[in-house]
Amino acid sequence: MIDLATSIGTLKLKNPLMAASGCFGYGLEYADAIDISTLGAVVSKGLFLKPREGHPPERIVETPSGMLNAIGLQGIGVHRYVAEKLPELRARNVTNIVNICGSTLDEYVELARILSDAEGVHGLELNISCPNIKEGGITFGCSPHGTFDVVEAVRKVTRLPVIPKLTPNVTDVASIAKRAEDAGADAVSLVNTFLGMAIDVETRRPHLSNIVGGLSGPAIRPIAVRMVYECRRAIRIPIIGMGGIASPGDALEFIIAGATAVQVGTANFVDPFIWSKLESGLCEYMTRHRITRISELVGTLDTATRDKEWVSS
Ligand SMILES: Cc1cc2nc3c(=O)[nH]c(=O)nc-3n(C[C@H](O)[C@H](O)[C@H](O)COP(=O)(O)O)c2cc1C
Repeated sequence: MIDLATSIGTLKLKNPLMAASGCFGYGLEYADAIDISTLGAVVSKGLFLKPREGHPPERIVETPSGMLNAIGLQGIGVHRYVAEKLPELRARNVTNIVNICGSTLDEYVELARILSDAEGVHGLELNISCPNIKEGGITFGCSPHGTFDVVEAVRKVTRLPVIPKLTPNVTDVASIAKRAEDAGADAVSLVNTFLGMAIDVETRRPHLSNIVGGLSGPAIRPIAVRMVYECRRAIRIPIIGMGGIASPGDALEFIIAGATAVQVGTANFVDPFIWSKLESGLCEYMTRHRITRISELVGTLDTATRDKEWVSS
């Protein structure tokens, strides 16, 4: 009997497969296509206190093995989310993590307060890593101090699991993960998108209205796996890994590198039915390797054998 159940602090998940923020709407958009309660968790599109229009088009462009986006955190704002989306997510029994964004520390705190009082929120993912907005967000996530301050401030006002989402656009992601842990985070999510740019050479203009955007999809996977591996060695709290997962083998790479759970973003745009394929692929792998519980696999990377082969060859 295969057991895919896992936990992120006090949050129990049916399985380690979560829909990544910004790639699954508020969850309900997919409810006619799949049973969204079967996912480990749904992570909402990033929410500010107030509604936001985001950037004008073009906001996405396809790139080799990936895509660039500069949506600019378009969203309905937390009050409409609580009034319109949460009741239905609750009724559908969805494990629901809300991705929150602020321009100031006080905004993160206010969002955390509002969502902690609302029924049907199971965790807060702190978006301190969006590369597509000028104010707040990534300014916190690019510095160990800033990360510490946001996590500490949110920690004080909520009992919900606090999960800062880290940016890969830094030199040493593990040191930032460590400060998040020191400030009381229950887990860290990584990675958000990598800053990138694409140019139309005929017009000599950038493809995106924002000029630069965030790169996601299979192109970033090896870098993201490396970052999960580095963070696993630096912190003890769970890691939620993501970046280019499109097959069961991709998810397994993150889990073996040290992720307790994984998120899938860009691949969901290509195949909204990917979830059952990922789940059955994980079960097939575990059966073949005689592993009963997914938790037994987390961080089981065998670097010692590799070192020996290297020395003897
Ligand atoms: C169109 C789009 C919108 C996104 N919006 C958000 C967001 O609102 N908040 C956030 O933390 N991450 C956001 N992300 C980042 C994803 O959640 C994820 O971290 C990243 O895309 C890497 O995973 P992937 O390669 O599986 O897509 C967005 C990504 C894309 C492609």
